[in-house]
Amino acid sequence: MVKAVVAGAAGGIGQPLSLLLKLSPYVTDLALYDVVNSPGVAADLSHISTEGEVKGYLPADGGLEKALTGADIVVIPAGIPRKPGMTRDDLFKINAGIVRDLIEGVAKYSPKAFVLIISNPVNSTVPIAAEVLKKAGVFDPKKLFGVTTLDVVRAQTFVSTVVGDKNPAKYNVPVIGGHSGETIVPLISLSEPKADVPEDKLAELVKRIQFGGDEVVQAKNGAGSATLSMAYAGFRFAEAVLKGAAGEKNIIEPSFVFLEGIEGAEEIKKAVGVDFFSVPVELGPGGATKLFNPLEKITSYEKGLVDVAIEGLSGNITKGVEFITKASESKI
Ligand code: 2OP
Repeated sequence: MVKAVVAGAAGGIGQPLSLLLKLSPYVTDLALYDVVNSPGVAADLSHISTEGEVKGYLPADGGLEKALTGADIVVIPAGIPRKPGMTRDDLFKINAGIVRDLIEGVAKYSPKAFVLIISNPVNSTVPIAAEVLKKAGVFDPKKLFGVTTLDVVRAQTFVSTVVGDKNPAKYNVPVIGGHSGETIVPLISLSEPKADVPEDKLAELVKRIQFGGDEVVQAKNGAGSATLSMAYAGFRFAEAVLKGAAGEKNIIEPSFVFLEGIEGAEEIKKAVGVDFFSVPVELGPGGATKLFNPLEKITSYEKGLVDVAIEGLSGNITKGVEFITKASESKI
C-alpha cells in the first residue's frame, strides 16, 4: 500500500500530476487536496481503469487531516503561478503562506511522509518547509525534496536539440544549484553520453535551460507558467522516490535538499557554503541515502556559473528561513 497526496490537486500542475499518479503502478491510494474542486478532479480520475483508489478533499470537515493521514508521499504544487514579467520570487508572499500551512499539516498528520515541494519559489519554499518541520520536531532531511526535475528535463530536451539528436531521454545531464534563473546550473560537460555542444552555442544553451520557464510564461501570455511539463517532471521525481522506497537500486535524480544529515552532504556544504543545494541524490528506502558532489569534475566556466548561483541562492534561502523564524519571534 502506498498512499500519495497531491496538495493543490485542482490547479494547473495538480490536475495532470494527479492523472499521472493515477496511472502509476507505485501508487495504490491517491488523495487529492485543494481549496476548490478537488472532489470533482477525484471523481473524474476515479473512472480511469487503473488499480489505485482516488479520493478528493476540501478544507472543510478536516479535509487536510483526512487527506494526509497515512500518507507515504506528499507532493505540493499548491500556489499561484507566474504571469509575464514576474520572477518566481514575486510569488513569494502568497505561496510562502500556503506552503507553511500545508507543511504544518504534514508535521501533524503525516510526519514520516516524503515531502516533495513544487510550489515556487522552490529556493525559498523548501527552506520554509524545513523550518516548519524543525519547529514541530519532525524534520528528516532525507525526506524533504525541492523538485528541480523540470530543469533536468529541459536540459535533456534542449541539449538534444543543439546536438541534433532525436532522442532527448538518452542524455543524462546533471543540473545543480536551485530552481530559478541563474541559480540553475546545468552541467553539460558531465552529460552522459557526452553531448558535443559547439563552444559558441554553450552559453546560449545554458541560458535557455536557466530561463526555460520564461518561454512558457511568455507563450501562455498571462495564462500562467509551465504546468504540463512541470507535472511530468514532478511525477518523474515522485516515481523515483517511490522506486527508491521500494528498494530499487541506482535511482539517482537531482533535487534541492538540506545539506545536513545525508551521506555526502557535509562535503558539498563546505564547498558551496549554503544550507540547501540541488545535487544528484541517490534515493533509497529512507529517502535520500547519498548526495553526489560533481563540483570537482566541472569546467571553469561551470564553476563561474556555480558562484553566481550561490550568490542568488543564499538570499533566497535566508528569505525562506526568516519567513518562519521572524514570524515566530513576533509571536513571542
Ligand atoms: C518552471 O520552471 C513552473 O517553475 C516552473 O517553469
